Amino acid sequence: MPCTVVVGAQWGDEGKGKIVDALSGAADIVARYQGGPNAGHSVIRDGRTIVLHLVPSGILMPGKRCLIGNGVVIDLARLREEVERLEALGVDVGPRLGVSPAAHLILPYHRAIEGVSEQGAGAIGTTGRGIGFAYRDKTARVGLRVGDLADREAFVAQVERNLARVRLEFPEAHALHDMSGAALYDELASLIAWVLPLRTDVSAELHRALRDGRHVLLEGAQGTLLDVDHGTYPYVTSSPASAAGAPLGVGLGPRAIDRVIGVAKAYATRVGHGPFPTEMPEEEAARLREAGEEYGATTGRPRRCGWLDLPALRYAARVNGLDELVITKLDVLDDFDEIRVADDYEWDRRDGMEFPTSARELARCRPVWRTFPGWRTPTAGIRQWRDLPAAARTYLEYVEQASGVRIGSVSVGAERDAEVSRAA
Ligand code: IMP
Repeated sequence: MPCTVVVGAQWGDEGKGKIVDALSGAADIVARYQGGPNAGHSVIRDGRTIVLHLVPSGILMPGKRCLIGNGVVIDLARLREEVERLEALGVDVGPRLGVSPAAHLILPYHRAIEGVSEQGAGAIGTTGRGIGFAYRDKTARVGLRVGDLADREAFVAQVERNLARVRLEFPEAHALHDMSGAALYDELASLIAWVLPLRTDVSAELHRALRDGRHVLLEGAQGTLLDVDHGTYPYVTSSPASAAGAPLGVGLGPRAIDRVIGVAKAYATRVGHGPFPTEMPEEEAARLREAGEEYGATTGRPRRCGWLDLPALRYAARVNGLDELVITKLDVLDDFDEIRVADDYEWDRRDGMEFPTSARELARCRPVWRTFPGWRTPTAGIRQWRDLPAAARTYLEYVEQASGVRIGSVSVGAERDAEVSRAA
């Protein structure tokens, strides 16, 4: 604080939701900076799991202002549904949620074309939420933003132009033929009336808050290895998921950021296609998947599981400028006799690169393993660093040394208080 970024240091699903929820106690504003309803941030409240897709995880902390920045892509129906679900749970969302008018919209044609482009070779294994095509329109300067919903005529005309283009590009996407700009606008009418009053100048709000000494938390979605620039391209999401995306996605300058917290699991998971050097054979993965409940919070897909990848973590530390690491789900490893990490990769460092820049190269990397003895003791009830089993401390201290980033805390369960702070 005053301005902290929470970023995923792996392939997403690191448990950022829980960490943001915990940190939001000390924040005045929590803002999402990229991604969209592809994200699924799970937070446990009173024994119940609440999954947030678009609304910042700070919403569960009463009184906190929650903002959706310009860098996020919004599916209005999903946003409204999520807010209604939260309100049904007794969370007072209404006046606390603000949306940037510059956030782009995910429209039905984005989902339709993603559906066909994910068939066959070249599929990325996306979440099917239309994310990539909404960001494609943004970059191609033909996207529609929340602010555009105020002008029906201009909105309808732009949608018509976009539909004409994608019908030619994706003739197999039959659903496009039944869509029209006017019908689409009219179908959205009640959502438009609902969302327009939520518009706020996110950049100005955050700027004022920081100027007045208040605390801001910027919440990332997905993770560094899924970042469109720094991830395992092309098996990435379409937004800047790393910390540099944070100021960009909310309208702050880079010097506004005081602290960058990277969140990494004590092991690794990945959803969707793409290289994963430390992936376990399925039998071992199934055991970890069950222990860690590693199923997608958005799609329900079983996550691919593997051991902690230190070259990838070092890379994440570098590209994010991490000040601190939070290691999550340590307790999931409690029953393993041996814990492995990839210390390094065996690969041809032809270009002097420290980490492979392409998925093809990463797929050729073979981990150089290091093995640690397991601790075989439940850690879920532990709250003090010194009470952690010695073998767990050895493991964590190695991760710290090998990544070059101090571990600030370790999460040992889904509940908010299941955390071992390093300072304690
Ligand atoms: P998209 O973001 O739906 O376009 O999917 C692109 C890639 O990112 C796929 O491999 C997805 O599985 C992955 N992905 C997207 N969002 C998340 C997430 O929140 N957690 C983990 N993986 C994700």
